[in-house]
Amino acid sequence: MIDADRLWHSLTTLAEIGAYDDERTGLRGVNRLALTDADAAARRQVAAWMEDAGLAVRVDRMGNIYGRREGTDPTAAPVLTGSHIDSVATAGAFDGCLGVLGGIEVVRTLNERGIRTERPIEVAVFTEEEGVRFGTDMLGSAVAAGRLTLEYAHALTDRDGRTLGAELARTGWAGDTDARLDPPYAYVECHIEQGPVLAEHGVPVGVVTGVQGISWQEITVHGRAAHAGTTPTHLRADAGLAAAQVILFLRELVDSGEYGELRATVGHLVVHPDLTNIVPARAEMTVDLRNPDDAQMARAEAALAAYLRELEGSRAGLTFSTRRMAKTAYVAFDEGVQKTIAEAADEHGLAHLSLLSGAGHDAQEIAALCPTAMIFVRGEYDGISHNPREYSTPEACAQGVDVLATTLLRLAGAVHV
Ligand code: GLV
Ligand code: MN
Ligand code: MN
Repeated sequence: MIDADRLWHSLTTLAEIGAYDDERTGLRGVNRLALTDADAAARRQVAAWMEDAGLAVRVDRMGNIYGRREGTDPTAAPVLTGSHIDSVATAGAFDGCLGVLGGIEVVRTLNERGIRTERPIEVAVFTEEEGVRFGTDMLGSAVAAGRLTLEYAHALTDRDGRTLGAELARTGWAGDTDARLDPPYAYVECHIEQGPVLAEHGVPVGVVTGVQGISWQEITVHGRAAHAGTTPTHLRADAGLAAAQVILFLRELVDSGEYGELRATVGHLVVHPDLTNIVPARAEMTVDLRNPDDAQMARAEAALAAYLRELEGSRAGLTFSTRRMAKTAYVAFDEGVQKTIAEAADEHGLAHLSLLSGAGHDAQEIAALCPTAMIFVRGEYDGISHNPREYSTPEACAQGVDVLATTLLRLAGAVHV
């Protein structure tokens, strides 16, 4: 139904913006952290594609971009689709981009076929979904949904102390419309799975039932710098050692099986002063916890907090401070929208299965405003993602966007002219 080559061309063209040569994999990767020059350039490209497709483009105070295709009933709430185009620093071409470019491809296809819809269709690009630069994920969509305030978002800083508000202004993406989104009629997001489940089952399409809870915090370990050669072990308050203990403790929590399907990751760790012959005075680390069960997540967080207190008490001169970066509960998607997606897949003769998302998505925020669900597209290489090896075939991408097109048409009400 959609034009697979045109979709693929959009994906590969966008991936050139912020592209870099990844030494580890020998592949071209994408580094497009939110509101960097690369992200700003990618936004300009996407906005130009939206305008070429006849969409009316608006940008809100959070930098979220919306492209609107009018319906025959312009007073009806729109059916919204979209995702994000910011990336982690070691990304591939698909995470988020498939949902945005897939939405634009659906509009191009409707235009070509002269298909109008009763409800407007809007394609959204949400700001800072990854949360890698400013520390809170799903940020633009969380502000759009009213869970976080614009003031909170604008005041967030990157590691160089630059605020999100200033970076919006610098890059020219501080728009002027209200960042709070009027409730759409429904929201549907197409995204790569970023995991192995669809491939393991030999199924091309996933109908996403919801998103597991996510807890992000930054832990700073305060110890005492000391000479590596002269300071006896019993006199040390080694912040690096304490950080390592926290990492091992988290793994023990996971392996204990007592916290449901807990996952725990320390993806960022630096020690200070970061020199060979000095006992670390300070360590900064992030803790990413995921759990589909909010009660189990709360127990895991409490166990970690208790362990930090225990470590503090175990050695003189050792203290911890923690800062909440992000926290989202388990979100269940709308069963009616899931059913519409499943029927759309059936219509295209595509096998599908239902699955929970392990990754965070803008859809989990917009779900607070309107009936929402997601379409997952199968990935290769165990669904590796946040990595230049991330790959879904042109066929798999087109199949997912075909399902998106049919789902959007059903929700928006096709009117043939
Ligand atoms: C978003 O990419 C996440 O971290 O789940
Ligand atoms: Mn994503
Ligand atoms: Mn991602």
